[in-house]
Amino acid sequence: MTTILLTGGTGYIGSHTAVELIAAGYEVVIADDLSNSSKNVVDRIAQISGKKPSFYEIDVADKDDLRKVFSSHHIDAVIHFAGFKSVSESVREPLKYYRNNLDATLSLLEVMKAYGCEKIIFSSSATVYGVSVDSHKFNEEDETGNCSNPYGRTKSMIEDILSDVSKADEGFTSILLRYFNPVGAHESGLIGEEPNGIPNNLMPFITQVAAGILPKLKVFGSDYDTPDGTCIRDYIHVVDLARGHVAALEYAFVHTGCGIFNLGTGKGTSVLEMIHAFEEANGLRIPYEIAERRAGDVPFCVADPSKANDILGWKADKDIVDMCRDSWRWQQNCRNESIK
Ligand code: UFG
Repeated sequence: MTTILLTGGTGYIGSHTAVELIAAGYEVVIADDLSNSSKNVVDRIAQISGKKPSFYEIDVADKDDLRKVFSSHHIDAVIHFAGFKSVSESVREPLKYYRNNLDATLSLLEVMKAYGCEKIIFSSSATVYGVSVDSHKFNEEDETGNCSNPYGRTKSMIEDILSDVSKADEGFTSILLRYFNPVGAHESGLIGEEPNGIPNNLMPFITQVAAGILPKLKVFGSDYDTPDGTCIRDYIHVVDLARGHVAALEYAFVHTGCGIFNLGTGKGTSVLEMIHAFEEANGLRIPYEIAERRAGDVPFCVADPSKANDILGWKADKDIVDMCRDSWRWQQNCRNESIK
């Protein structure tokens, strides 16, 4: 059976990808230090899939621990999710981000090489593109590296590292997946995003306001050059995103070199449109107020997903209503102590 190692596999995107990989017939091994997730996610993956992944509580930067994983399993490919991901924290503590995100990747690549594992899929981000001019939808040929924060720069640096490794080693495959804005949760309501403390991102903030945990949403800026003045993003359902990894993996098994793919829907939604869609999908009211712009936000960030559509044969098919409904179902379950 083909075995895939998921670093950061108990996290938000990792756990949904584990479920889709198991459904596609892969054997899943998870390595996660649980710094931003909990161990019971492994049981919930098992509850959904009927199969429990092997789990190692390790820091991926620790090569000795990583060697134990590679010695215990024949790993055919790695999907590398592990990394810190808060934009605001990365601005306050840049060294923490560079050390953690780069070290984990370098250790992983060195151990992969030692064990002859030559396929890696990397969790990159649309943040590597920087600012769009005239509502241009980003494609994989667009310039990258002009990031506004250390978190984004770690993604961009890791893309460069993987590209160099693929050039140096003919048999090596790296696939860089540039995620747009993942939201939603598995429809079982058993796994989803569990932000630590007050959420930074729009959807978890909306669901916590809906649940009465937070009093009111602040809309960061209503004077952008967009139709309703609020920022536009390409929100993608996390289950579609997870399926994108399965498609990328299948591609990686028959190609070498460095492949780059946007994972987005190609549809833009403004902050106000998202609030109203959430209200309508769930029959709720979300109190909000217009606030100052948030530093570093770009007005427009939407994917041109045609390369992934054409080459990977993958397409996002869940819509904003699915995203809002599934995010809310998860938020409600999350408050249920038996699940959290
Ligand atoms: N927003 C609000 N109020 C909030 C939170 C967010 O108005 O309380 C707005 C933001 O200003 C932005 C939009 O909602 O206009 C989306 O913000 P998110 O924080 O949800 O997402 P971002 O697009 O800023 O960032 C996300 C990921 C990053 C990633 C980036 C790539 O969080 O990790 O997409 O484009 F780098």
